[in-house]
Amino acid sequence: MEYMVLCSIGLEKILSNELKKMGYKLKNANNGIVEFYGKEYDYYKLNILLRTAERVMIKIGEFYAETFDELFDGILDIDLKQYLPKNGKIIIDKVRSSKSKLYNKSTIQSIVKKSIIENLKKGYKINTYNEEKGVYKIRVYIKNNKVTLALDTSGDGLHKRGYRKYVSEAPLRETIAAAMILKSGWKRRYPLIDPFCGSGTIPIEGVLYGLNIPPGIYRDFSFNDWYNFNSNLFDGMKKELLKEIDYNKELKIYGYDKAYKMIEIARKNAGNFDINKYITFVKANMESINLDYKEGHIITNPPYGDRLKDKDHAEKIYEQMRYLKRKYPDFKYTIITSHEEFEDFFGSKAKNKKKIINGNHEAYIYYFEGV
Ligand SMILES: C[S@@+](CC[C@H](N)C(=O)[O-])C[C@H]1O[C@@H](n2cnc3c(N)ncnc32)[C@H](O)[C@@H]1O
Repeated sequence: MEYMVLCSIGLEKILSNELKKMGYKLKNANNGIVEFYGKEYDYYKLNILLRTAERVMIKIGEFYAETFDELFDGILDIDLKQYLPKNGKIIIDKVRSSKSKLYNKSTIQSIVKKSIIENLKKGYKINTYNEEKGVYKIRVYIKNNKVTLALDTSGDGLHKRGYRKYVSEAPLRETIAAAMILKSGWKRRYPLIDPFCGSGTIPIEGVLYGLNIPPGIYRDFSFNDWYNFNSNLFDGMKKELLKEIDYNKELKIYGYDKAYKMIEIARKNAGNFDINKYITFVKANMESINLDYKEGHIITNPPYGDRLKDKDHAEKIYEQMRYLKRKYPDFKYTIITSHEEFEDFFGSKAKNKKKIINGNHEAYIYYFEGV
């Protein structure tokens, strides 16, 4: 079975590393999509375990089409019975087209849907297709006239772990917080500090990683309602993964925020996964933080200042962060912001800077090590 796992653009390498660690040999990693072959039910564990993936898709067909007739016929030729039932709710979720003759999204959407239904009616030898049970979301990618159909196994985006019921004004995507932690190279024996923790996303993702809690262990996926859902396999897998969580691990994870309201929210969010005791949340200004450690990781998402009026304020905070760096020079700093000149304000040159695109939003993950 061919898999396409989606992530924010720029996170392909980190996601690829996660997949390689799981033993997959990758075919391609580009433009927010990582492709590889896996076994039939691998999407269960992929959805539960991957920290930086946004969606796990199965490639269900690929062919060339330059006209709507070719599009219709190309779909008729796919063996869809192996993926879709005789009574599922078929939703053509998204169409992306580039450098291709077919580009009108709503027409593509309706032709793909019609052809899929025709295909299934023929395949199941039925006269009417009743959309009754289970949601089957399908995405259509067309590039250089090559059409790829992919079935979404995840449902809600995988950043929705289930713990973040309350948010700050500018919450960080859970998958991006996890990517920052993986990219930083943080090891569990070192402190992990977030001086601008907001709703607690980075410290919470730190605990999930630190204790080996699979990020998707407490949520549902699209496939839970599918006709071929194997609950024995799924429940058995979850049981095994729950056994591998190490609740006895001692972690040094701290979240600070100047707003008491945010600290309360962060505590509630951590409480939703019952991991409060692994994080020390403190109301404090970044400028007055006192750490008991000389070494460790500061992983943080300071105010962005995207809106013009907030930009000055954000830049002042970045300048203040110099003092943090001076006070704790042996810490490693992983910082996300949309500010392209963050290094000038922070007064240090990043060892590396990674651009990521999340929806329409661009940001950079800066990594600083040494003075
Ligand atoms: C971009 S938000 C962080 C969002 C967070 N990563 C999340 O996922 O919810 C920045 C946070 O920094 C806090 N903040 C702003 N200035 C601060 C300062 N000088 N010291 C500490 N916290 C500050 C704000 O209250 C806000 O919650």
